Amino acid sequence: MAPMTRNCSPGGIPGDDVQQYYARRAAGGTGLIITEGTYIDHPAANGYKDVPAFFGPALEGWKRVVDAVHADGALIVPQLWHVGSVRRAGMEPYPQVPGMGPEELVENGRTVVNRMSQDDLREVVASYARAAASAQATGFDGVEIHGAHGYLLDQFLWESSNHRTDAYGGALENRCRLAVEVVRAMRQAVAADFPIIFRFSQWKMSDYGARIASTASELADILTPLADAGVTVFHASTRRFWEPAFEGTAESLAACARRVTGKPVIAVGSIGMAQQHETRRFRTRDNVDSDVAGLEQLFDALDQEDFDLIAVGRGMLADPCWADKVRRSGSTSLLNALTADVMQKLL
Ligand SMILES: Cc1cc2nc3c(=O)[nH]c(=O)nc-3n(C[C@H](O)[C@H](O)[C@H](O)COP(=O)(O)O)c2cc1C
Repeated sequence: MAPMTRNCSPGGIPGDDVQQYYARRAAGGTGLIITEGTYIDHPAANGYKDVPAFFGPALEGWKRVVDAVHADGALIVPQLWHVGSVRRAGMEPYPQVPGMGPEELVENGRTVVNRMSQDDLREVVASYARAAASAQATGFDGVEIHGAHGYLLDQFLWESSNHRTDAYGGALENRCRLAVEVVRAMRQAVAADFPIIFRFSQWKMSDYGARIASTASELADILTPLADAGVTVFHASTRRFWEPAFEGTAESLAACARRVTGKPVIAVGSIGMAQQHETRRFRTRDNVDSDVAGLEQLFDALDQEDFDLIAVGRGMLADPCWADKVRRSGSTSLLNALTADVMQKLL
């Protein structure tokens, strides 16, 4: 199950309904659940109302979620989130704190996002490490770092949102530095075999056409240091899993990530859904609505070993029993093998 924000955790606390929501997907045959984005304990990490925290009393709520999901036989990892410059003052739990990002942002003559200092960056790295340790202590089966969609780590990766001239901006190696430091600190904070998934994307919430890498070799330059720092699995977030990643090749982003890193890779994007209209706005009805499509293309890609795991978003929102229904519909051996694979790869 792909990570999907719900805005259903008032005060940052995942309650009984959150527990039941995930338990339904576990009981419906899902192998691995990646939770909605959950914000780390840095004061500027959150950008949205009623999304869950990943520290303090929220961890007790998460513990109940983990136990319920495990009781129904699935694995679960939290998606650890810092929104960076998406935040504006007024957001819980520290309304007075402004946004923070790679560079200062001014709106209507007023600074709304502060440029992060070296101390700020050190604090974010330490906060991610604490979150990883908390995930392990709470009983999660691993963690996913949200390095995608135009949030903090992606803002540093993307040259259009990072014009810094210090060690965290400029050359690609510098733009990767914050993400690499985060992974390294998290790896040190957890057991050597505790899975760390890194989700990355080309697209941003603000721009579906954005690119952090324009060639496979640039993608390798981003992902290789992350793999070396301790990433176990990469999660290539695309809107359509089958689309070619770069001009002049048929290879998808997930297949490319797998080839250049040698790591297991999760693919995602419109699995079980027909191709949709191209709109630039995020989560409009046009973007979310879709007809149902067959899974043949997915099975072909799996046969070709393009990627190792698949994540399903909207399909599993619509139907908590998506995995079991697909299993029952005749693709039994493949989905059973997939579930076994998830267990094997992540445990
Ligand atoms: C309602 C909704 C909320 C989402 N929230 C997140 C999120 O918190 N973190 C994230 O990385 N992606 C998020 N996504 C993207 C999904 O994880 C997934 O990549 C996307 O929906 C494509 O998969 P699908 O075509 O199977 O829906 C969200 C998507 C939807 C529809």
